[in-house]
Amino acid sequence: MMDQSRGIYKSVLDAIGSTPLIKLSRLTKNLDGNILAKMEYLNPGFSKKDRIALQMIEEAEKSGVLKPGQTVVELTSGNTGTGLAIVCGVKGYPFVAVMSKGNTDERARMMRSLGAEVVLVEQIPGSTPGTVSGESLERVELQTQRIVEERGAFRCNQFDLMGNLNAWYSHAGREILQQTNGDFDAFCDFIGTGGTFAGLTKVFKEFDPSILCYIIEPINAAVLTGNKVISRGDHKIQGGGYSMSNLKFLNFVSIDGTLQVTDEEAYSTARKLANKEGIFAGPSSGANVHGALQLLKGPLQGKTVVVILCDSGLKYLSTDLWT
Ligand SMILES: Cc1ncc(COP(=O)(O)O)c(C=O)c1O
Repeated sequence: MMDQSRGIYKSVLDAIGSTPLIKLSRLTKNLDGNILAKMEYLNPGFSKKDRIALQMIEEAEKSGVLKPGQTVVELTSGNTGTGLAIVCGVKGYPFVAVMSKGNTDERARMMRSLGAEVVLVEQIPGSTPGTVSGESLERVELQTQRIVEERGAFRCNQFDLMGNLNAWYSHAGREILQQTNGDFDAFCDFIGTGGTFAGLTKVFKEFDPSILCYIIEPINAAVLTGNKVISRGDHKIQGGGYSMSNLKFLNFVSIDGTLQVTDEEAYSTARKLANKEGIFAGPSSGANVHGALQLLKGPLQGKTVVVILCDSGLKYLSTDLWT
């Protein structure tokens, strides 16, 4: 909590959330409609996942499943791990992040710098460097389970703990409703765990059931669209698109539709966000904005679409996203 009388935060944890919402006027210049982008990469760990890290740890402390000083372990594509490294560091829990080697090196270095132990898991043979398929993720999952057992650790499982969904439902979603006065028509989101999509969809539809909520998937791993996985589902949009059709959080909401995005579309839109809007975000943010542009060019002409800008472009400096 902030010391209201002096405007001083007690720790960096109080700087999580309350991010700005920005109208992408340049990208929509020749279109009828608006895109409102929530700047989640301005969180202390430079991604939206700081929110769920804080929420999951605080819920676990409250319920007593996390004991003082107990080791926390989580499978991560880097962003939840960074959030957990920050939250666990400040609160005094040792933290182990288990991540595929398919994710960028910046993420591992950042987590280590924040005090985490980082365990990197080889991709499945034949994988393209810089991609994380569902099969590669299964390997990371097995390694995570092993470490949790060996260390008697608390598994901060972002695919399962309701703190993931609740962070979006109770905080970010309410911020967006307040920032917009509820005046928007749709929301679209590239999903990993589906926590962002489900938490926001739940709060938006409770406010106004006519708000349309769309899932975005990589074109070659569009399982929720009902498509077959192509080329093992390898793609370059880190943080999601794991071709999982059994995501727990999606059971809590209805889905109005799905959109597909290619690596090139996600990348080129992230580049346009940077050079047209001055917003330096990663490929999944590009995927989200591309989805919103598709909606404005198609069924939602003249409408307003909300998107999340998930993480910072700085996390991709070693990739071909930037020249
Ligand atoms: C950069 C990035 N984009 C998108 C996602 C997907 O978000 P969610 O797990 O809430 O579906 C993640 C999740 O790790 C992420 O790190």
